[in-house]
This record gives sequence, structure tokens and C-alpha cells, in this order.
Amino acid sequence: MKGLLLAGGHGTRLRPLTFSGNKHMIPIANQPMLFYGLQHLRDAGVTETAVILGPIKEGIEEQVGDGSRFGLRVTYVPQAEPRGLAHAVLCAREFLADDPFLMYLGDNLLEHGARPFADRFGAGDARGVVGVVPVKEPSHYGVAELDANDRIVSVEEKPPAPRSNLALVGVYLFDPTIHDIIARLTPSRRGELEITDAIRALHQETGQVRVIRLDGWWKDTGRPEDLLEANERVLASRARNLFRIQGQIDPHASVSGPIELGEGSTIGAGTGVRGPVAIGKDVHLEDGAFLGPYTSVGDHSVIRKAEVDRSILMEGVEIDARIRIVDSIVGRGANLSSRTHPPSGQSFIIGDACKIVL
Ligand code: DAU
Repeated sequence: MKGLLLAGGHGTRLRPLTFSGNKHMIPIANQPMLFYGLQHLRDAGVTETAVILGPIKEGIEEQVGDGSRFGLRVTYVPQAEPRGLAHAVLCAREFLADDPFLMYLGDNLLEHGARPFADRFGAGDARGVVGVVPVKEPSHYGVAELDANDRIVSVEEKPPAPRSNLALVGVYLFDPTIHDIIARLTPSRRGELEITDAIRALHQETGQVRVIRLDGWWKDTGRPEDLLEANERVLASRARNLFRIQGQIDPHASVSGPIELGEGSTIGAGTGVRGPVAIGKDVHLEDGAFLGPYTSVGDHSVIRKAEVDRSILMEGVEIDARIRIVDSIVGRGANLSSRTHPPSGQSFIIGDACKIVL
């Protein structure tokens, strides 16, 4: 079984974070989102995977390399334009050859990974395996309608009037039958070759698309709020294990709950952390700074005075202000400070499409 990890697309809904980089490299609990997909593929038994790269691929090849650090052999396949999930399969046709493949959308996170798909496929009698999870807003996703035996009745992509509340998650397992079907697809109304159309045709032609109901959480990280929720979920899951402390905690700091503290980082006197919190390498908390639950702080950041709750601070962030920051995402190298000599008034340098709530 091969792997196919999709990391193309424009990431429009995550602007401005995606102006300067690929959305799949945004950190969740201090690890690029894409790495979870690679780990899930490996844990499901994949040894060789292609990664689909779109026009904004910056950082991925450098950090993932040949995949050996994940125990995988990684090949990169370009997709010049995001012309749909089934189009990505078409791009990887040569790599996939006639092997079954586990397809994983790089912006999806699943608590229990992709193993259940491989297990169901291994049980036989399947040309395709899809997973469903009940959701509140099914019209944002592919939707499956099932009969009493969990067999597919219909599948539709983002239907305005969904026939069920079961969303198709972004992980699929196919045998090579899917390739002939994709070769015959025509673009949908939004101009994409839809994987949902391919699944429907595979079901109609073979009757061998199997559905698994996934327990555990699932997150499609399409919008900024989804990133915060994914960060919270991952930190909460990891909180059950003991976090590693490699940096220094001052005896006059107040630390509680599970925390991870990277090498060279310091939690200074008079500062505090209440976990679950993940702090990267060479991060410094000083001057009364406080980190509250479900926060992650990237390498080489400095926080002074501020309280930060349920937020993602990426690498090299500097905050030096007596403010409380909640539910926020701060991009790499951003700097937030307060004036030492007032005149009153706030001063901003805000990039395109930023969102500020005061
Ligand atoms: O997350 C699950 C949903 O994913 C499913 O319920 C839908 O049926 C499925 O169509 C898909 O919907 P999205 O609207 O979320 O797909 P999106 O365009 O966000 O792309 C998903 C991932 O695939 C994302 O990591 C970018 C990548 N991608 C996307 C397209 C369209 C590519 O690599 N190439 C592409 O051409």
C-alpha cells in the first residue's frame, strides 16, 4: 500500500497566514500540520508516499526531505493548480502504479490516525474505504447517506440540503480501480475534479466502497478557528502522557498541569504556566508573563508581561506588553510591544487580510 499526502491548494481561507507560506506548515502543538499526516500514514503501514505540492510549496521539501526521519520514502509530485482532489490522484498516477493507496488530505487531523482505513481494507471485499463522522454543519463537507447496514445510499460534495449529518473525512483508501473512474471525470460546477464524484462512481460501478464510522475527534483545519481547536485537541490528547521538560524552570515561577519545555528555554521568576502548554526551544518567559491552557509557543520566542491563553504563537514571536491575548494566532517573527513613552493611541503595521479584535 502506497501513500498520497495532499499539500497543494491555495489556503485562501487561512489568509494572511498563507500569504507567506504553505498552510500545511502551520504548527499545531509546535509541529507542522503536515507531519501528523506523514506519521499517520507510516503508522497505518505505508512505507512509500508521494506528497502533492502546489504553487506555494515553500518549506515542505526542506523540512520533510526524503522522509527518512518519519520512517518513509517520500517522492514529490507537482500540481501546478489546485484542480481538485481527484486531479491530484491523476498527477500521481505514475507513482501510484497499480498499488492500493491511502490518500490523506494534509489539512486533516484525526485522533486515531489512518490505521482504521488500512484495517478495513485488509479485511477484504473493498475497492474503496471512506470514513464518516457526524457533524453540525454537513454542508461544508462531502456528505454520505447510509442505509441501516452502513452501506452507501448517496454521496454528495458540499450539498446545500444535506441528506445526513455524516461528513466524509479527508482520508480514503482505494485500489487501482479508481484510476479508470478518475480518467472519465469531468470538472464540477466549481471547476474541480471531485473525489466525491469518483467515490460515487466507484460505488455505483462496483458496490465495493466500504464505510467506517470513526470514533475519536476529527478536524479539517480550513479556517483559523479550526487551527485553534486542533491545537487544543492535540494538546489535550498529549496531556495524558507526561510532557518533557528540557529547559529551566525558576523555583519562583508557578507551573502546573502538563507542559512541554524545549531545550534552552526558561520560565523565569515571577512568571507562570498552566498546562497543557507546549513551549519550543530557546523560548523565554520573563517579567510576569503567563501562559494559560492550550497555548503553544514556537522556538526562539520571548514573552514579557503578557498573559496568553488558548493561542498559537509561531517561531520567533516577541511579545512585550501588559495585555491578555486569547484565541489568537501569531505568525513567525511577529512583534507585539507597548510604547514606553505615551502619546496615547495604538500603533500597527498590519499586513494584508489580517484580523484584529480589540
Ligand atoms: O476535510 C474533509 C473534506 O475535504 C471532505 O469532506 C470533502 O468531501 C473534500 O472535498 C475536502 O473538502 P475541502 O473543501 O476541505 O477541500 P480543500 O479544497 O480544503 O482541500 C483539502 C486538502 O487538499 C488541502 O490540504 C489542500 C489539498 N488540495 C486541495 C485541492 C483542491 C490539493 O493538494 N490539491 C487540490 O487540487
